[in-house]
This record gives sequence, C-alpha cells and structure tokens, in this order.
Amino acid sequence: MEVIIKENYEELSKFAAQFITDQINNKPDTVLGLATGSTPLGTYKELINLHKENKVDFSQVASFNLDEYVGLPKEHSQSYYYFMNENFFKHINIKPENWYLPDGMAKDIPQSCEEYEKKIKEYGGIDIQILGIGGNGHIAFNEPGSSLASRTRVKTLDEKTISDNSRFFDSIDEVPRYAITMGIGTIMEAKIIILLANGENKADAIVKTAEGPITSMVPASIVQLHPRATIIVDKAAASKLTREYSSEPAKLNL
Ligand code: GLP
Repeated sequence: MEVIIKENYEELSKFAAQFITDQINNKPDTVLGLATGSTPLGTYKELINLHKENKVDFSQVASFNLDEYVGLPKEHSQSYYYFMNENFFKHINIKPENWYLPDGMAKDIPQSCEEYEKKIKEYGGIDIQILGIGGNGHIAFNEPGSSLASRTRVKTLDEKTISDNSRFFDSIDEVPRYAITMGIGTIMEAKIIILLANGENKADAIVKTAEGPITSMVPASIVQLHPRATIIVDKAAASKLTREYSSEPAKLNL
C-alpha cells in the first residue's frame, strides 16, 4: 500500500484522473469501480475535461458503482444513479448498457445482490476501484463492524453516516436507513484500488486506515492487505499521519 500526499484537493483530483486515464489508455476495456460522495467529484470533473480534450475514451469502458440507497428511485435527486449520471456519465462517451449500479428498488434484494456480483465476474472483475472514505472509516456502505470478507448485500446505515449524509437531504428523516453495498471482499478483489480523501474531517479516518491496525471497526484499514492500493490524500486529510510520505508514486502502479 502506498500513500501519496497532494498539496490540495485540485492536485489530488488531477492526479487521480490522470492515474485512471493512464489505466484506460493501457486497457481500453477497463472495468472501473466507481464511488459517489463529494470526494470523487473533482476527479470526475477532471476526467470529463480529459475526455473533451480527446485524451481518454470511455467507449469500451464498463463501470460498477459501489452502492445505492434502498428505496430511492433512479430519478430521485439523491439516488446514486442520478448522481453518477449528472456528475459523470452524461458528460462522457461510456455506453449506457455498460454502467451498473446496485438496484435500490429491486423486489428481491438478496437476489439482485447476487446478480450484481455475477455481472462483475462476467466483465472479468474490476480493474481499478475508486474509493472514498466515511468519517467513521467506512468504505462504500460497509460500516464499522462489517465483515472484512463480505459480499454485495444490504446494510443498515450507521447513525454517523446518516447524519453526515443528511446535508444532501431536506431533513435527516429523509435519509434512507438502508443501502445496498458491494462487500469488503468484493472491493478487495479489484486489481487496483485508489482511496481518495480530502479535508481535515477525514484526518482521523486516514491515520487509522494507513497506520492503525487492520480492523473491521475501521473497514478502510483492510486496504493495507491489498497488493496494489494507493491512498491519495490532500495535506488536510494527511495532517494526522505520523510517517513520511511522498507526493509522487514510488513506482508506476499500472
Ligand atoms: C458515502 C458513500 C461512500 C463515500 C462516503 C464519503 O456514505 N457511500 O462511498 O466514500 O460517503 O463521502 P464524501 O466523499 O462526501 O465525504
């Protein structure tokens, strides 16, 4: 696992977008694992710019999102489906039939989770997984205490996650209590992982993830076991780290 510290959010986003672009240029049918939340927005914006400059082509790319709220239809402005389309997909040339999110409205959720896992396998697995991190160390919606071997399933959201995410809703009561999320075991099967974090409110979670013990109480700490994981943070999110890290990768992770 490598930690890279960038000066600020803009530098972090540019670096992550270039990393993903290099991967796609190397393998045009890359399977991306995508995250929502405010953290990857800058990366998506940079990727859109690179696409407009003809530096990256998504025509053969497929993508699988990490998670989706249970009970929010695709058209709901807070569904992750809506978020991905608005903030990324509609601005690039990825084919609509090649992007997937868990179905928060599925009648049989356990079955739809199994199908999601099967679909990922059909595409040959995820090549590069983008992760954000919750203030409590969650990845996707794998809250503290989640099995480190878990697969795609329904999770009850933590009180902290509900209150963190309430900023996007009119009131805290509107935040869904359940979500479908890829499991930690699913995420760890990605060939490359990049975990992004910015801002001081992520500093605690980042020091526990990068320098603490591997524990299900900090789900993100599992990335220490991944052979090709890179944590990319800005200076604020890095502010509690105790060891020396570089601002550039030691090796090309491709
Ligand atoms: C949500 C998502 C996570 C995301 C996290 C952090 O709960 N399910 O995938 O990493 O929030 O969000 P933000 O980037 O807005 O801080």
